[in-house]
Amino acid sequence: MPTGFHQLGGETVTGTLALSVFTAVLGSLQFGYNIGVINAPQKIIEADYNATWVHRYGEPISSRTLTTLWSLSVAIFSVGGMMSSFTVGVVSEWLGRRKAMLINNMFAFIGGGLMGMAKLCRSFEMMILGRFVIGAYCGLASGLVPMYVGEIAPTSLRGALGTLHQLAIVTGILIAQILGLESLLGSEDLWPVLVGVTVLPTVLQMGLLPFCPESPRFLYIIRCQEHHAKSGLRRLTGRQEVGDMLAEMKEEKRRMDMERKVSIPELFRSTMYRQPIAIAILLQLSQQLSGINAIFYYSTSIFQKAGVQSPVYATIGAGVVNCAFTVVSLFLVERMGRRTLHMLGLSGMCGCAVVMTVALSLLDSVPWMSYISMLAIFGFVAFFEVGPGPIPWFFVAELFSQGPRPAAMAVAGFANWTANFIIGFGFQYVELCGPYVFLIFAALLLFFLVFTFFRVPETRGKTFDQISSGFGHASPDIMDMELDKTQTRFWVLREGRETQWM
Ligand code: GLC
Repeated sequence: MPTGFHQLGGETVTGTLALSVFTAVLGSLQFGYNIGVINAPQKIIEADYNATWVHRYGEPISSRTLTTLWSLSVAIFSVGGMMSSFTVGVVSEWLGRRKAMLINNMFAFIGGGLMGMAKLCRSFEMMILGRFVIGAYCGLASGLVPMYVGEIAPTSLRGALGTLHQLAIVTGILIAQILGLESLLGSEDLWPVLVGVTVLPTVLQMGLLPFCPESPRFLYIIRCQEHHAKSGLRRLTGRQEVGDMLAEMKEEKRRMDMERKVSIPELFRSTMYRQPIAIAILLQLSQQLSGINAIFYYSTSIFQKAGVQSPVYATIGAGVVNCAFTVVSLFLVERMGRRTLHMLGLSGMCGCAVVMTVALSLLDSVPWMSYISMLAIFGFVAFFEVGPGPIPWFFVAELFSQGPRPAAMAVAGFANWTANFIIGFGFQYVELCGPYVFLIFAALLLFFLVFTFFRVPETRGKTFDQISSGFGHASPDIMDMELDKTQTRFWVLREGRETQWM
């Protein structure tokens, strides 16, 4: 094996593959950073909003206006994400995956610049606008990164490399939580630096992207550039002979050429795509409606209510658990499969939500319940990262072949960001249910668990073509799959075992 190449899961990881994945997930790092950055310095930034108000109008801001301005600053991020994620399909087809990521960086510069200059210019409008623009950046990145990584990864590593998107997100959240400490950048003078440093990974990504190859699947299947696709494949695999991979893409292209171009409405109209798009949407909803961002947006106040002594450090603890268990998932995803891990995560989260409710309701009479609720929150986060955190992001790219993939990523991204917005905005109101708030999430988690059990197929180790065949038309190449038309069920016959698939 040439130097600089590593063996992973029986597959060679070349320097180019590692560099390309690393460069792409710098976008995910920013996504996470901007989720986490707003939590700790809330009071300090609010004080600045007040100072601006006094400067402009000669009187302090009313608490209602301040709450509205703050909620807007938090939630407008998801509105930006919602809007831009919907354009992922069009943008990635028009510019290609790599150039789309490159140009998306413009949003990061504008967003980071606006937020970083807001204090200097005494303008909370700039801060709010900046959050919107950086949200738009993150919305595009949340579609482009998993799409690019999924397309350049070898089949047997698609899950593990796909999980790196989530690992970068959680690392971003943790960095933001740590830098947000008052003793670091979360202070009165330095908060503009805290929100502005988001442009640093942007600069790095812009410097590295020109050294990464465009997705060969995109080049070959969409742009029909066989020569360029081949040279990209050679760089990514380190092999001269890439005929087998090209043959697999050829088959996918042959099938795609037989289909019409798939638009978003068609995803819902065509019986072939209706099932996978429903699965894609529900998986995204299972991620967001699990309540995870109730923790990441409001952890400090949740820990406070649970009687935890140092809520800020407990928040950082949650960030550490978050990172650690994403790494666990990284190692398990190619062994245990997506479906099993997703179900394990959902059931664990459901259990932790119930424990949390019991602990919170007993808090007044049993003081040590504060420890139990803290542990339950850590468990909740840990189980989230085992499955519901990383899996939905790359699973959508896996469920669809090249033709419908961009439209599907757009719809799934939109569903994710909308649910993110609903939780970010609505949690403060449902929190009025007191200790029982997490029971709502427990019920939703149970529903998603049942759905996954009955409806979600396993995609581990299958090519894109095999996966999409499972939903629509049985490909002659896939001898191990049989469509039982009368019961509209699929049975995958593997190693002599019969497994119910749908
Ligand atoms: C996922 C979610 C994101 C959440 C994060 C927490 O990436 O999409 O909304 O904040 O996980 O780790």
